[in-house]
Amino acid sequence: MTPPIAVADVRTVCCAGVGVIGGGWAAYFLARGYDVVAWDPAPGADDRLRHVVDAAWPALTELGLADGADRSRLRFEPELDKALAGAEFVQESAPEDLELKRRLLADLDAAAPEGVVIGSSTSGYGMSEMDTLADHPERLVVGHPFNPPYLIPLVEVVGSERTSPEVVAWAGDFYRHVGKSVITMDREVPGFIANRLQEALWREALHMVNAGEATVEQIDLSITDGPGLRWPIHGPMLTFHLAGGQGGMAHMLDHFGPSLQSPWTRLVSAELTPALRDAVVDGCEREADGRSIDDLVAERDAGVIAILRALGRA
Ligand SMILES: NC(=O)c1ccc[n+]([C@@H]2O[C@H](COP(=O)([O-])OP(=O)(O)OC[C@H]3O[C@@H](n4cnc5c(N)ncnc54)[C@H](O)[C@@H]3O)[C@@H](O)[C@H]2O)c1
Repeated sequence: MTPPIAVADVRTVCCAGVGVIGGGWAAYFLARGYDVVAWDPAPGADDRLRHVVDAAWPALTELGLADGADRSRLRFEPELDKALAGAEFVQESAPEDLELKRRLLADLDAAAPEGVVIGSSTSGYGMSEMDTLADHPERLVVGHPFNPPYLIPLVEVVGSERTSPEVVAWAGDFYRHVGKSVITMDREVPGFIANRLQEALWREALHMVNAGEATVEQIDLSITDGPGLRWPIHGPMLTFHLAGGQGGMAHMLDHFGPSLQSPWTRLVSAELTPALRDAVVDGCEREADGRSIDDLVAERDAGVIAILRALGRA
């Protein structure tokens, strides 16, 4: 394939699909001083995008905007061909629907200029499942962010066997260049690394609500006032290294290893019945206690910034 341009030469990014994640990406790229062209086929997508960008802007301003960063550099383009015409990188963030992603990635590939790398925000599909209709799968790569992509540093990068290794390396360099923390995986793993871990926790949480063992509020409190406080500092591995005292992880495994056989976990999906759905939705409303989604976004953003600053990461 035509080699991609140098990461430092990228000026214009196309965000294809601009809901929660694509809108967050658009805000992030704008704050880093890029021109952003957004495309999304849904009626009203333009207004919803501006709402997401406006909600993100105070946090991004507080963290420091790049020279020239301006929300006026966002353009919404209803026609895909025009949206892609000047793009030097494409971030796809359409709904998590395999057939839709296949079709869309093929369309993006057909219309994007030669040599332009296309990253997908997918939460868990492998690129080898999504690239099947594309003529140039070598330029398609997963760039999996975390909500909100304008604040959470991590992006997981992984290609399919058809992705050019150059493109995988380029994507990692590009995300790093724009200020992200990057994990590049050398093989496809369902859910990548972080979502696989999140999913395990989420399944257990749904089981506990379903069985009446814990409320939605108790589940949230158990993490925010418990293990969640340690995770921004040390991940689950170093956290347990300290749980072993001076003996570290070796003592931890020897001591607690046998209890790992205890039947605590139920790692199969809880059936998402209407009753379970309602219990989780109602629990969240109760816990939100009158705070709107916008209120919660502002609260979360302020908290994430405070944590990043406290740890010297922002
Ligand atoms: N929400 C999260 O926490 C999260 C985190 C990481 C990754 N992701 C991934 O990001 C992607 C987007 O998720 P989201 O949460 O932003 O969803 P969303 O529903 O908020 O946004 C999806 C957007 O895609 C648009 N869309 C619909 N059909 C489309 C099409 N054919 N082509 C392009 N756009 C189309 C919709 O109008 C909407 O604006 C998914 O792949 C998801 O797995 C989500």
